Amino acid sequence: MANVAVIGAQWGDEGKGKVVDWLASRADVVVRFQGGHNAGHTLVVGNQTYKLSLLPSGLVREKLCIIGNGVVIDPDALLSEIARVRGQGLTVTPETLRIADNAALILPVHPAIDKAREEARGDRKIGTTGRGIGPAYEDKVARRAIRVADLAEPETLSAKLDELLLHYNVLLQGLGVAPFSKESLLDGLLKLAPQILPYAEPVWERLDELRRGGKRILFEGAQAVMLDVDHGTYPYVTSSNTVAATAASGSGLGPSAVGFVLGIAKAYTTRVGSGPFPTELHDDIGQLLGDRGREFGTVTGRRRRCGWFDAALVRHAVKVGGIQGIALTKLDILDGFSELKICTGYRVNGEFVRHLPAAPGAQAAAVPEYETMEGWSGSSYGARSWADLPAQAVKYVRRIEELVEAPVTLLSTSPERDDTIMVRDPFEG
Ligand code: IMP
Repeated sequence: MANVAVIGAQWGDEGKGKVVDWLASRADVVVRFQGGHNAGHTLVVGNQTYKLSLLPSGLVREKLCIIGNGVVIDPDALLSEIARVRGQGLTVTPETLRIADNAALILPVHPAIDKAREEARGDRKIGTTGRGIGPAYEDKVARRAIRVADLAEPETLSAKLDELLLHYNVLLQGLGVAPFSKESLLDGLLKLAPQILPYAEPVWERLDELRRGGKRILFEGAQAVMLDVDHGTYPYVTSSNTVAATAASGSGLGPSAVGFVLGIAKAYTTRVGSGPFPTELHDDIGQLLGDRGREFGTVTGRRRRCGWFDAALVRHAVKVGGIQGIALTKLDILDGFSELKICTGYRVNGEFVRHLPAAPGAQAAAVPEYETMEGWSGSSYGARSWADLPAQAVKYVRRIEELVEAPVTLLSTSPERDDTIMVRDPFEG
């Protein structure tokens, strides 16, 4: 029996919610290890729809949930999300939710600087969620972050706020934004402290115990490999490492704890925010994919850019993300297309390459090379076995497996939980 890490294999929004919910129902504990409330996971259970940003999806299944040290936590956003899901009938207590005491906090100054910088970038904006994720990670690496445990020490908070504001108020003023007052930030944190601290602990210790006790751990990734700060389409990325290796460092366990790595990929490609997207379609087909797939961001509400399946991109994600099996989602959205295209690589300045180059100029110049496949006229919607799928849909999936060099171990054919073809149980390793 293995633990399982679930990560996105494209640019996010691959439909992780459904897969994670199914896996969470079979896990003992669910751990978030990177990102923050920039993530958005929609879970449909019965007639209830839950939208989670920061809380691990396991809450819906009443599993122990852990927010690891690799996550950046906006305490206001956390408390609002807790209140919202409690209003939907979920139980969130310090018994069901534990938060790493060494996780860095997002303060009001972070979204302010995030938005001001985006504004200043003009046409070159990254298209961030504006939630302060980047600045909070910058502070962590710069060793000036305020961390969860600091909430118990008013003097530490006071000294750290001095350092933080020394840095930010100059920047904010330069960007034409009003500076922050230390008193109001300190006051805010001291008010939040008694509500956050009961959840805080060294989670690595609990995880070690759970692991030694043979409990099943599900590591729930946010964003996706192509938004990884090292491996993604830099600088159009998020500010954390989204690959499965981060599940270990972002929760306080060693690398061998991670277990099976499941990568989620849509049967086509979408992206929110700016940045290269070689297979993007600006025509009626792109429009149709967006309409049928209801491609709107959970967090931002922005319409997602849509395009053909990019096998070169997913192959890249498989390699750097350590993906051992693919969960392919939204195959049904392709029903009825007369032909489908799959990108197998790119032509960059006349030369064929199998992955997007690292330099931005070369990324922008990459022209996809396609393989065309016949579509299918029958429906794949709701299929629960390979036999239920049109033959041509099976061929499409098989070709994807070959090109991305990883098996499809799970296939999702509708938003309903049971409309899934499971080839291999990830917890079995
Ligand atoms: P940030 O994470 O808010 O800094 O945004 C950086 C980039 O990551 C932007 O292009 C966002 O649109 C993208 N991004 C962040 N979180 C998600 C997500 O959960 N799904 C898809 N894209 C995301």
